[in-house]
Amino acid sequence: MSSLTAVIDLDLPGPTISRHVYGHFAEHLGRCIYGGFWVGEDSPVPNVRGIRSDVVEALRALRIPNLRWPGGCFADDYHWRDGIGPRDQRPRMVNSHWGDVVEDNAFGTHEFLDLCEMLGAEPYITGNVGSGTVREMSEWVEYVTRADDSPMAALRRSHGREEPWKLPYFGLGNEPWGCGGNMTGEHYADLARQYATYARNHGGNTLYKIAAGANADDYAWTEALMKVSQKLGCGCDPRGFFQAISLHYYTMSGDWSVKGHATDFDVEDWYVTMRRAHRMGEILRGHANVMDAYDPEQRIGLVIDEWGTWWEVQEGTNPGFLHQQNTLRDALVASVHLDIFHRYAQRVSMANIAQTVNVLQAMILTDPDSGALVLTPTYHVFEMNTGHHDASSLAVHVKGEIPTRATDGADVPLLSMSASTKDGTALVSLSNLDADAPTSIVLDLRGREVTGFEARVLTAPTIQTHNTPEHPDAVAPVAHDGVRRHPRGLEVDLPARSYTTVRLVLA
Ligand code: AHR
Repeated sequence: MSSLTAVIDLDLPGPTISRHVYGHFAEHLGRCIYGGFWVGEDSPVPNVRGIRSDVVEALRALRIPNLRWPGGCFADDYHWRDGIGPRDQRPRMVNSHWGDVVEDNAFGTHEFLDLCEMLGAEPYITGNVGSGTVREMSEWVEYVTRADDSPMAALRRSHGREEPWKLPYFGLGNEPWGCGGNMTGEHYADLARQYATYARNHGGNTLYKIAAGANADDYAWTEALMKVSQKLGCGCDPRGFFQAISLHYYTMSGDWSVKGHATDFDVEDWYVTMRRAHRMGEILRGHANVMDAYDPEQRIGLVIDEWGTWWEVQEGTNPGFLHQQNTLRDALVASVHLDIFHRYAQRVSMANIAQTVNVLQAMILTDPDSGALVLTPTYHVFEMNTGHHDASSLAVHVKGEIPTRATDGADVPLLSMSASTKDGTALVSLSNLDADAPTSIVLDLRGREVTGFEARVLTAPTIQTHNTPEHPDAVAPVAHDGVRRHPRGLEVDLPARSYTTVRLVLA
């Protein structure tokens, strides 16, 4: 009999978990765009207008709500006019951040927005504050969103797109404290207001403008932005200069000089990694506290538009391409983060895991030689969680002590949970972070009758297990029969190192 019970009041729905916390990120970095999404129209790899069909098909199953592009650090080097017009006439540039390779601008604004339409995802474009001009940013927004015969709308039409696109999300630069210009928070805060002023709402398109936020626990950065975000009565957008502030935090078992190996790690590395994943909760709390002081009504969103694991690059690959494998450990890092985002549903309006294909904690890895496509363990967590999109969060109260493991100067909880409800169902997510020991938990389900249930589990024989073209389903979800009725609700077996989802049908 398990000593742990989780109480869930099924009739007390909390804030909505925006589907946008399941957003993704695609930068001009390594093989994310080129070779990942984009193969070109003449490629033997099946494609539609140059975009890989198998990648689109796999990602559509995740119901990607939004896609961030073109960076990342690349965004503040990117000049959008280089990426429009006939491809053979587009100027080249050096991608100095990522591999020092020459970029031919084959994938630009039209290609990105075409990709978003294929995916059914809303575009999130990050503008260039670091090395671009206010006019350049302003004209980009006009080019994409304006309907009449304005100069930029006419230019767009001359390149074959009659109707404007909808552009809901717009980033005001990226990491200005680092690759985006090495600025102080105060200097950037002024620039964010200036650039936001000229990133205009055209016709029916209203931009949700996202100021480039802090690195991890740099709460002073968030404070510098919050101080200036909401000056009203200035003749500008009554919603304030920007509607959200971003945050970047990466998980690694080492530090920035030696981040840790993606597949060759031991149990201690596993627990350190889980500790670092849990840190996201502490960091969110710190930023939320600062934001609450200036914005108690929680109108300004927190957008975690870069998160995920960052390991040493795979041996034999370009160090600037950030190509890494993805094991069961990455899957559980993802599930822990998503639980945290669910708990902060009121403040966290969006999140974007880095990055969708072939870079960092990817959903998909493609083989550069054979072109074979592999779904990663992280992909499966995102797929298992689609039921949380736009669902109402449910508080999960644990009775009893969650087991912990001392590591990295802290006690790491070995269980992570969250729950939500929508459309007469509920979804409960349960991560058992114990590398070796199975456990079980009683779900004390109150307030509504549960007429049916089904469960799936993602686990593997070892913590290092990962998917390859030869073994594409080494880590893949299967139906879980370890769930049974209990006088209080359900009892769920949780295998060691596993992620389980239980879907409840409610009367
Ligand atoms: O995601 C990789 C890089 O990490 C991004 O370009 C940058 O914003 C961050 O430092």
